[in-house]
Amino acid sequence: MSEYPIRIGPVEFKNPWFAASGCFGYGLEYKEHIPPSELGAVVTKTVTPLPRAGNPVPRLQETASGLLNSIGLQNVGLEAYLRDKLPPLVEAGGVPFVSISAASLDEYARMAERLTEFPEVVAVEVNLGCPNVDAGGDRDAAEARAVEHFTRTVKERLPDRAVAIKLTPNVTDMVPLARGAEQGGADAIVAINTLGGMDIDLERARPTFARERAGLSGPAIFPVALLKVWEITGAVRIPVVAVGGIASEREVLKFFMAGATAVQLGTVLFSKPTLLREVRSGVRRFLDARGLTHPHELRIARARETADEGPSQEGGKAWVPTR
Ligand SMILES: Cc1cc2nc3c(=O)[nH]c(=O)nc-3n(C[C@H](O)[C@H](O)[C@H](O)COP(=O)(O)O)c2cc1C
Repeated sequence: MSEYPIRIGPVEFKNPWFAASGCFGYGLEYKEHIPPSELGAVVTKTVTPLPRAGNPVPRLQETASGLLNSIGLQNVGLEAYLRDKLPPLVEAGGVPFVSISAASLDEYARMAERLTEFPEVVAVEVNLGCPNVDAGGDRDAAEARAVEHFTRTVKERLPDRAVAIKLTPNVTDMVPLARGAEQGGADAIVAINTLGGMDIDLERARPTFARERAGLSGPAIFPVALLKVWEITGAVRIPVVAVGGIASEREVLKFFMAGATAVQLGTVLFSKPTLLREVRSGVRRFLDARGLTHPHELRIARARETADEGPSQEGGKAWVPTR
């Protein structure tokens, strides 16, 4: 029996526990710790039309309670992904949520058309939020009209797949971007990608990363992600997949209370690849203690409307805390 089934557009997933892009390889690298079949979906490392070598090293730097990365979308490219990485994931029972990134509408169109030939790719996450590349990164998708065009280009070609749009938090307000995605036909919003940040190497007296700018993830960003998810769930009708700073079942529960439909485990998987088990049992205990049967029932009511149109997703029924 499915654990807590959820729906994103035309696709039903058996549970709301997803692995975040870039933090779970292509889906099999962590199989001793998390068999991919236990996840509702595996969001793969973002693939681009051609292979990318990524940015010069160093690419990772720990911070007080987070991680800076400047990977630069290192990946094998779409064709090698489809040939070498997708079949073993499907064979292992993983549900591929393929993350894609491209530098133009034409490239997005071609990638989406190629994916139509692979029905096992039930879902596509369009990565519009990478801070670590020059073309096709967060700065090219920091405006609602651009997000709408990118979304429409992909969704029109993949009407029978779940198309989720992953947005950057590196803007003053993510809500217009989320509305742009919804307008373009997105089935879900994924929030958030990493926050722009940097570090300076004290000995060498220069920026640590070759591109200077990097992306911050991990526990430090959870409160930011929670606010963004809260604002977006208050403004759009489509599901919101929450990602950013999950370190235990407590953040997961808070994301559901903020109206998330599913959650993605990211940076935490590097240090605690077994967290999924704890999340599952912790969420179940929390729900059972309150007589609830699905994490979506956790969604809390709003005292204030965050958007002019107000919240309109299904749910929103307030539950009474027992303590
Ligand atoms: C090393 C690393 C690589 C990442 N690569 C990608 C990527 O290829 N595509 C993408 O959409 N997000 C990527 N992300 C962002 C994560 O998917 C996630 O949005 C972000 O890290 C926030 O979640 P977290 O705090 O739980 O890690 C990467 C993050 C890290 C730490």
